Amino acid sequence: MYFPAYRPRRFRRTENLRRMIRETILAVDQLVYPLFVMPGRDVQNAVGSMPGVFQFSVDRVMAEVDEIAALNIPGVLLFGLPSMKDERGSEAFSESGAVQQATRAIKDRYPELVIITDVCLCEYTSHGHCGLLRGHEVDNDATLAILSKVAVSHASAGADIVAPSDMMDGRVGVIRRSLDESGFEGVSVLAYAAKYCSAFYGPFREAADSAPQFGDRRAYQMDPANSDEAMREVALDIEEGADMVMVKPALPYLDIIRRVKDEFDRPVAAYNVSGEYSMIKAAAACGWLDENRVMMETLTAIRRAGADLILTYFAKDAAKLLQS
Ligand code: PBG
Repeated sequence: MYFPAYRPRRFRRTENLRRMIRETILAVDQLVYPLFVMPGRDVQNAVGSMPGVFQFSVDRVMAEVDEIAALNIPGVLLFGLPSMKDERGSEAFSESGAVQQATRAIKDRYPELVIITDVCLCEYTSHGHCGLLRGHEVDNDATLAILSKVAVSHASAGADIVAPSDMMDGRVGVIRRSLDESGFEGVSVLAYAAKYCSAFYGPFREAADSAPQFGDRRAYQMDPANSDEAMREVALDIEEGADMVMVKPALPYLDIIRRVKDEFDRPVAAYNVSGEYSMIKAAAACGWLDENRVMMETLTAIRRAGADLILTYFAKDAAKLLQS
């Protein structure tokens, strides 16, 4: 059909007409809010590069969780800061670590709130890399045993989902087996399957104090130029037992989200990362962008690309708008 028989503008005339043919719906059900927890009492440190984001001690995080639960956000993603770092990132699997304590405290008050925990060593190692070092290289296989200890410690604190973000080969299978052997067959694995080596993580490394002390993460995170390789990563993680797969970052990788959604039969999560958040906050603070509109457009675009779940620092702001 051609003009004037078909006029696409007819369905754009009024808001109710637009509503009727809208293809992508963004709902609070699809949002997860990341939280940074740290040891100590009565601490709430603002993260300078991420307005509205804080590092919380476990006692102080509860007020934030009250707000998240009141907004009906279904889940949180926990990152932890240790009281001391060492070569092996030992505090990552300590029963009294900030993530483990926060998980217990949150589950105690909100048993229904989904707790996803980040499984990685970079916040916990003195060198800031995501695994154990041999010389200046990250030793893949030696790291796997520690990662599975971390995952089991999170599961025993009450995590519903563990999310390995380290990008070691084989970690999903090893973690799945350790969880099962420890009686946590009901705990899910959300694999950071296609995690790119991205400069958009810059502000996060301030929030999580996890910048590598030498070099970068190119030897384990993916090359931003690759798409087919992401499909191989996702296929491997699914074979190894991933229940859900993640693409990260989100906005510069919408094509990857779409391919994963089309080619695999698993729920797809997308991580709208720190740099994506900070860019919008900074431009809005300068008066250069309409923050709420850009935020909703961004989250809708990530959904349209194929994400079932979005991990985003905008979760609270978006939930407020969606409920108003
Ligand atoms: C840990 C981890 C990172 C992020 C999530 N988990 C940083 C990194 O790989 O350096 C980034 C999240 C964000 O930027 O919001 N490995």
